[in-house]
Amino acid sequence: MSKLIIVKKKITPFNKQISVSGDKSLSIRWVLFSSIATGKSKAYNLLLSEDVLAAINAVKKLGVKVKLNNKFCTIEGNGLAGYKYKKNLIIDAKNSGTLGRLIMGLLIDTKHKIKIIGDKSLSKRDFYRIAKPLEKIGAIIKLKKKGLPLTILGSKNLIPIKYFEKKGSAQCKSSIIFAGLKTPGKTIIKAKKSRNHTELLCKYLKLPLKVKIKKKYDYIEINQAKKIKPLNYNIPSDISSSAFFIVLTALSKNSKLVIKNTNINPSRIGVINILKRMGVKIQFKNQKNYKGEQIADIIVHGAKKLKSINCPSKLNSGAIDEFLVIFLVAAKAKGISYFKDLAELNQKESPRLKWGAKILSKIGIKTILTESSIKIFGNPNLEINKKIIIKNYLKDHRVFMTSVIAALSFGGEWHIDDKDSIKTSFPTFLNIINDLKNDN
Ligand code: S3P
Repeated sequence: MSKLIIVKKKITPFNKQISVSGDKSLSIRWVLFSSIATGKSKAYNLLLSEDVLAAINAVKKLGVKVKLNNKFCTIEGNGLAGYKYKKNLIIDAKNSGTLGRLIMGLLIDTKHKIKIIGDKSLSKRDFYRIAKPLEKIGAIIKLKKKGLPLTILGSKNLIPIKYFEKKGSAQCKSSIIFAGLKTPGKTIIKAKKSRNHTELLCKYLKLPLKVKIKKKYDYIEINQAKKIKPLNYNIPSDISSSAFFIVLTALSKNSKLVIKNTNINPSRIGVINILKRMGVKIQFKNQKNYKGEQIADIIVHGAKKLKSINCPSKLNSGAIDEFLVIFLVAAKAKGISYFKDLAELNQKESPRLKWGAKILSKIGIKTILTESSIKIFGNPNLEINKKIIIKNYLKDHRVFMTSVIAALSFGGEWHIDDKDSIKTSFPTFLNIINDLKNDN
């Protein structure tokens, strides 16, 4: 099967309802929490993507029983200290930073050395940021440069730490929360704002975790947990996957889209807050609370006029995975948009700030790029009539999907390589695109 797709035609206006697949952050967290619970946990609508399957394989290797039947999954955890495995174990985190970093927190008390490996993209990413605080708790971690492969050996004598998480990384914060649940005494985290699914799940599971929310930072206190009860969870749809369709609709005048049952956790909806400021009409319907998470149907309307934005940094953390596709809206907006304090974007599956600028320059949009910011000179009349090639982007799933949305929105003939990259987070992405095209 060819890994290349060619998109030659703009999408015509649509008025549809879709469902995207389950949330990736919640799916991986469900697997990891269930693996240390005592008893059988059940998940409905689990995301069946390579990142989540890697998490399932990882806990299986740690001796945990897993049954997967389509999107229904059961995991039988053996308790907080229940991992059983042979010496020289290797865990393959594939492309998933969330799995690679969160599982390290759970391995804080391992008796034998475990090796963590990943694909080319993940191996280049920074694992020192999480190795450093975990070593203070007691683990012995050896890294290749600052990335993978690494080995981790836990300790019997775990020491609770005070940890200042300065990057706004939910992965680092969550990893220390997991380690804190296994560490006697009080672990304290001062964390720059980032997604809070781990804290909400701890709260739902009545685990010993307290959070004080202040303007800039969250203050989290974790005590050692005695036991974790099983977690039955119906995973809501992923706002990060929905974002591609929110933007596709926003860029298609006269279109309207309803995206069902999506997680609208306030720490994840930066894309909606940013696009609203740029003139896109977005509403929530059927809003409800599910086990601490907010869920709603999202209604988006194609925008007649788009305004540029000077994006306040406080909106960054809630949109951290969505900037590539947000930049497409800035490309079509009137005026110059400015996004700053985004050095973290270059730490993702590919250097995404650089890739954002690259895609925009390929479509004739002027940008000014620094290590942490981008200015985008929008063109409301943007139309493309040439061939555009997207390849060698470290198979970053979000680069692929952003390119498809650009092709459908602006025209031109796009040759986009490595379509398999969508398997990481959103294997049904192209099927939904076809559904939207159906009656064109
Ligand atoms: C994630 C946190 C974010 C995000 C990633 C998923 C998570 O990464 O980019 O896709 O599930 O905790 P960082 O924590 O590194 O910012």
